[in-house]
Amino acid sequence: MTERLILVLDEGTTSTRAILYAPDGTRRGVAQRELTQHYPRPGRVEHDADEIWRATLACAVEMVAAAGGADRIAAIGITNQRETVVAWDKRTGEPITRAIVWQDRRTADQCRALVKAGHEPLVQTRTGLVIDPYFSATKMHWILDNIPEARALGDALAFGTIESWLVWKLTGGAHLTDASNASRTQLMALEDRDWDDELCALMGVPRAHLPEIVDMTGDIGRCDRALLGGAIPICGLAGDQQAATIGQGCFAVGDTKATFGTGAFVLTNMGAQLPRSQHRLLGTVLLQLGGKRTYALEGSVFVAGSLVKWLRDQLGWIDRAADTEAIARATPDNGGVYLLPALAGLGAPHWRPDATGAIVGLTLGTTRDQIVRAAMESLAHQCRDLMEAFAADGAAWQSLRIDGGMSANDWMAQDLADMLDLPVERPADVETTALGAAMLAGIGAGLFASLQEAVAMRPATRRFTPALAPTDRDRRLAGWHAMLARHLN
Ligand code: G3P
Repeated sequence: MTERLILVLDEGTTSTRAILYAPDGTRRGVAQRELTQHYPRPGRVEHDADEIWRATLACAVEMVAAAGGADRIAAIGITNQRETVVAWDKRTGEPITRAIVWQDRRTADQCRALVKAGHEPLVQTRTGLVIDPYFSATKMHWILDNIPEARALGDALAFGTIESWLVWKLTGGAHLTDASNASRTQLMALEDRDWDDELCALMGVPRAHLPEIVDMTGDIGRCDRALLGGAIPICGLAGDQQAATIGQGCFAVGDTKATFGTGAFVLTNMGAQLPRSQHRLLGTVLLQLGGKRTYALEGSVFVAGSLVKWLRDQLGWIDRAADTEAIARATPDNGGVYLLPALAGLGAPHWRPDATGAIVGLTLGTTRDQIVRAAMESLAHQCRDLMEAFAADGAAWQSLRIDGGMSANDWMAQDLADMLDLPVERPADVETTALGAAMLAGIGAGLFASLQEAVAMRPATRRFTPALAPTDRDRRLAGWHAMLARHLN
């Protein structure tokens, strides 16, 4: 029998990719397109939803051809940058404005007003999320208030996060989202299966504009034949961080992963227990299979790979992202320099949308390489702060599984092990997000009976063990915390 493949559409913040997997986990092809980042004003970050769709379709067409045609594809899995909001006209299927990206801070005033009016405890208890411009609800409200066409459209206005937009385009009009993406909108209660009327009223987002919430696997929809040459079923949907957690095989309570993409996102599996953070972490849906939920506690760091991109594209201090490894290795220490990477505000556990970046500890002897090293060190420092917040919330980590493009940096992997004082494990293939979406799609298509069976797709891992003297670790953390205290108070 001819082997059937799984096609994953992985729509990240800076690029979109289509990846072809065999059921044993081997990759059979990758197509990738960069996405234009629009920064119309400080604090604003936008994407062109039409460009996302066209780039995704072009990559998918390429991979269907590489597979030998639509018949060779058993299922499509979609995974995506979360929280980003697309608004479109249901009659034409065209976006009415640019997508507002998760990093966008334009709703900071609305968020401050919600906090001032005393709404944060209700929102946090019900959704697991703090009030911050990061989440979708205030972005949707902003569109309703600022884009005249939005209100004029009435019920013909559709809102969706990126997976929802792609499902609409691929199926020719199904308006769906999955539970993991829905849990990032701030409009669904963590334990509910549908939108919450009180939250919709509070955030000013009528539910008529929202998609239907579905499971993360199953027969979710069929592609319009004209697009890919066959009615390929869409069998898996997941927010990218949830997909990475699945791709890392974090199925037991306490299993923890950190994905280093544009940002860095740490999720710990909390099982069926509703996560209630007392330390400014997020509760989120990790999985919904057959209506059954698993939850995660999450720490969201907004700037990781984007910091390296900034060093390369804005400062021109490195030619390639990979140069950071050689520089950090060749620079014995940070020379007392600390970098606060608040280039898109600060996420967990601080939640300061207004924070901006800083470099402190400069002297006449400071070198450019020490600043690059300080930038790289800031990733482990932030993870260390998250580790302490997770432990205080009763979710102590035993080890950390890392993935994402940036985790290929061996220096960074070792620095994490050193600063966390924990073993760090990294899979041979760091594209765990796409793998998780392939596992979900494989289950939905009946190629695997369960997650435990699908996990055979995972590659071997390499382990980094702590090797730094405790005094050196303490010195670095003391410098980092002194810098935070100075800048955030
Ligand atoms: O919540 C935002 C997150 O989903 C973005 O992921 O992969 O673009 O860093 P990434």
